[in-house]
Amino acid sequence: MIMQDVKTITIDLKERSYPVFIGKGLLTDIGVLLQPHLRGKAFVVSDENVAPLYLKNVAKALNAETIVIPAGEPSKCWQTVQTVTDAVLEKGCDRRSALISLGGGVVGDITGFCASILERGIDFIQIPTTLLAQTDSSVGGKTAIDTRAGKNLIGTFYQPKAVVVDTDTLKTLPRRQILAGYAEVAKYGLIKRANFWEWLEQNGEKVAALDDAALSYAVEQSILTKAQVVIADEREETGERALLNLGHTFGHAFEAASQMKILHGEGVAAGCVYAAKLSEKLGLSHLAPRIAAHFEKIGLPVKFDGYETAGLIALMRKDKKALSNRLNFVLPTAVGQARVVKDVAESDVASVLEE
Ligand code: NAD
Ligand code: GLY
Repeated sequence: MIMQDVKTITIDLKERSYPVFIGKGLLTDIGVLLQPHLRGKAFVVSDENVAPLYLKNVAKALNAETIVIPAGEPSKCWQTVQTVTDAVLEKGCDRRSALISLGGGVVGDITGFCASILERGIDFIQIPTTLLAQTDSSVGGKTAIDTRAGKNLIGTFYQPKAVVVDTDTLKTLPRRQILAGYAEVAKYGLIKRANFWEWLEQNGEKVAALDDAALSYAVEQSILTKAQVVIADEREETGERALLNLGHTFGHAFEAASQMKILHGEGVAAGCVYAAKLSEKLGLSHLAPRIAAHFEKIGLPVKFDGYETAGLIALMRKDKKALSNRLNFVLPTAVGQARVVKDVAESDVASVLEE
């Protein structure tokens, strides 16, 4: 690996600062890249889809033990926490050990949670392998599992020591998953970077086709935006980090109503369109047709049919972002700008859902 081909973005959180390394083919020399960040024994956690593709080489390069969990959202549960933590403790862990996630957001969220509670917190490193994980979930320190009461309701803020984004791993990712990740990439343009959104309107199809130059620019812009937001509001206290939830109140309700048949990013894409319609209804912007046109061109869903409005609104009231049962939304106000709007009238939400 030629080290100057590695782009580094620092997530500047004082004593919790860490580098995000971005490049092509970084897994081929992962040992060189990560050795400076390892203080003791390493454990790599991966899932059953990713492990056959990349785990052997990564574990060998890092002289690491391996743990493989089933793929998919149901793995984000207490049972997996027990499986991973038991395995790590049985194989021999101390306070200098590190847990390394190799996979998508599911593996990252569960591994980070386990790292945060093992021996009251051991080192954690992320090697994300989906577009969503590379541009969103691996940066920012949110870890989580799901419970009967809902998704991501148990978790910690626990920053990794390093993140390695090898965009070559996306070559094995199914196209539907790439598009789902693209929705979160586009979201960054909508909330913070007008120029990036406009660039995506011209170049988004190249990103989705994994064109090297376009992909690398989009991944970098996304991570820079996520870094900017996380540095400003690490623990989601000021409202800044909440902007990352554009499209998510609608999107989570669509995901839940579909019984998780639609992917998170698909819900977010349609959710951004409904958020823009709601913004229009409240007289804040006129963006819905433009956002819908872009997502449609990319091949993402822009509407959600076939579920009754009252049921969707009930799901939105249960969303963990809905404080005290109120209907709060992140709404776009212009390209590159969004804000939190609290206590939206149920009749306005119903009317955009029924349009
Ligand atoms: P995922 O981890 O389920 O991965 C999607 C699918 O792709 C899985 O089947 C996986 O096995 C497979 N896969 C992963 N990498 C692959 C590769 N390179 N080649 C072939 N197959 C591959 O899903 P995701 O979309 O990456 O993440 C979704 C999760 O992320 C959700 O649980 C969500 O709550 C969480 N999330 C967390 C944050 C955060 O800030 N912590 C942010 C957004 C989403
Ligand atoms: N993906 C939401 C967040 O990191 O805050």
